[in-house]
Amino acid sequence: MSGGRFDSEFATFLRALKQRSDIVEVIRSYVAVDRKGGNYWACCPFHHEKTPSFAVNEGEQFYHCFGCQESGDVIKFVQEIESTDFMGAVRILAARAKMTVPESNFDTEEAARKKKKRDAMAKILLDSARFYLSNLYSGDSRADGFLQYISGRGLAPTTVKKFGLGASLDFYSLPDYLSGKGYFKEDLVDSGVLALSEKNGRMYDALGGRLIFPIINAFDEVIGFGGRVLEKTKFGKYKNTKETMLFDKSKTLYNINLLKKLKREQPIKDVIIVEGYMDTISLYQAGFKNIVASMGTSLTKEQARLIKRYTDNVLISYDGDFAGQKADLRSLEILDEAGLNLRVVPMPDGADPDDVARQGADAYQKCLDGAMPLIDYRLHALERGYDLTKTEDKRRFVAEALKIVKEADSETVREELLKRLRDRTGLTYHALERDLRSIKKDSEDAPTPLPKEKLSETASGTDKQKKATRFILAAKLFSAPYAQEFSVGDLPLKDETHIIIAQYIMEREEKRERIRPSELFELLDENCAEFNAILDLNYGEKLIGDVAARFFADSVNTLKKEGIEEELARLNQAYAQATEETERREIAKKIGECVQKSKGLNRRKI
Ligand code: UTP
Ligand code: MN
Repeated sequence: MSGGRFDSEFATFLRALKQRSDIVEVIRSYVAVDRKGGNYWACCPFHHEKTPSFAVNEGEQFYHCFGCQESGDVIKFVQEIESTDFMGAVRILAARAKMTVPESNFDTEEAARKKKKRDAMAKILLDSARFYLSNLYSGDSRADGFLQYISGRGLAPTTVKKFGLGASLDFYSLPDYLSGKGYFKEDLVDSGVLALSEKNGRMYDALGGRLIFPIINAFDEVIGFGGRVLEKTKFGKYKNTKETMLFDKSKTLYNINLLKKLKREQPIKDVIIVEGYMDTISLYQAGFKNIVASMGTSLTKEQARLIKRYTDNVLISYDGDFAGQKADLRSLEILDEAGLNLRVVPMPDGADPDDVARQGADAYQKCLDGAMPLIDYRLHALERGYDLTKTEDKRRFVAEALKIVKEADSETVREELLKRLRDRTGLTYHALERDLRSIKKDSEDAPTPLPKEKLSETASGTDKQKKATRFILAAKLFSAPYAQEFSVGDLPLKDETHIIIAQYIMEREEKRERIRPSELFELLDENCAEFNAILDLNYGEKLIGDVAARFFADSVNTLKKEGIEEELARLNQAYAQATEETERREIAKKIGECVQKSKGLNRRKI
């Protein structure tokens, strides 16, 4: 690693810029900041809260929110609060510090290569989008079916244009067209628009024969495509281009580009989240422009954060029967954690927003007017499964409903829900309340509470290794005395974030320069969850004292053992495959050394 993403002139400029942009002062110009203990605290500007959990570390020049896990340096802060990209934030800070931004920056070899690749892919994607679009109006008779389909679904030509819809007429026109423009084969395949045939190595249109929906990011770049077959089918109706450096589905929302434009025109009171491409387009056409689609998958934390930049209020408008799916309900918790206020839009059974919108804007507006909090919606959806005129059904419904009521987080809400149950079932409030009380808190058949923790984390065996590595890296980053002698070069690292952090530490140690955690914000992805987890360790007393020192030694041991065991497994396999005697002897010797090392570790532990 040669000092980050930037050339030396720009790196020098950045350092100077950061020196002149004290993070406490900059943050103070946006929100009230209080000094308490060794840190500065504020109410987090990135999620809704009443008591401050947003810490600003003046010494290390970074912020970290314990509520929503946002963290970063001064540039990242401006990026987030001004909804801008890295260079946008640099320009804002430079103006504030009365400095001039140098022209060139991405000049280090690695960064330059990455940028070149990205640019090449973006160009291919844009070219492809244009190609698909031109197909639609080319007069080619194969386009007729697509045009008929589009108008059959009620889309006006202006809508089609607005969303840049197109058509792939076959599997080989796009490769021919793109090849003729001189793109590299590798870039064509990497961009996702073309795929390689396993049979003959020929390139073909990955979405051949489909109706094309360009997926565009907030910076108006085409980053991928969705493609729909015209025929009625249950399986594989839609196919997307593969995930790439540009297209990460978990960080993407369909129509975010138009939402961004809308934000410039008017304040956005709330955002409607739907599942599909067609839901989005159809509602947009009906006048509901504050809309994005999750593209069929469960919502992610990154998507929630993306939305939070536009509004605090979200309306979930999924297909009629989604409440039955646990995964979807869970993904809604993510919205809650991001500090978004969430309401659910009830749909007629079996219908999706597109179906309703096609009956007219009024019909959909009626659905919106009926939007309700998640817990109310769960009761509402539950009731659909029962016939309350039947005693047995009613009894089972009440039992299930009370479990939901139990989860309400305030007495007021509970009371309100009980009243509703009373009205729906004709039972007395008193009886319902008594039954509610008799549900034990942790009774076995209570519904599993939705996990409050990050959902992406699994409690697997490697969790232990991950935690150990985090601790070691945190101790090194914050210069814990007990960690001084240890070299991170000895760690068996797998996680990409860990590797970048370790490389940074080693580079600084080699140059005998100070380790500054905030410098890592330039090297890591935005909102890197793993880095946030490491920063968390610096608060409280977690890295200080004897216990921490012991935990450090333990962690080192755990990882070393892990490394040796993996090496052993590798060697054993190599041994089994080796054919020559000398080779076998060589491997056997290494196995012996490994076993010795592992014994040594075990002894030391006792
Ligand atoms: P739906 O199956 O609800 O389709 O998928 P839809 O949007 O109502 O489709 P139409 O109205 O029949 O055209 C919702 C979204 O999930 C993603 C797509 O983004 C789709 O818009 N999806 C669905 C896929 O990526 N692959 C699939 O096979 C199906
Ligand atoms: Mn649909």
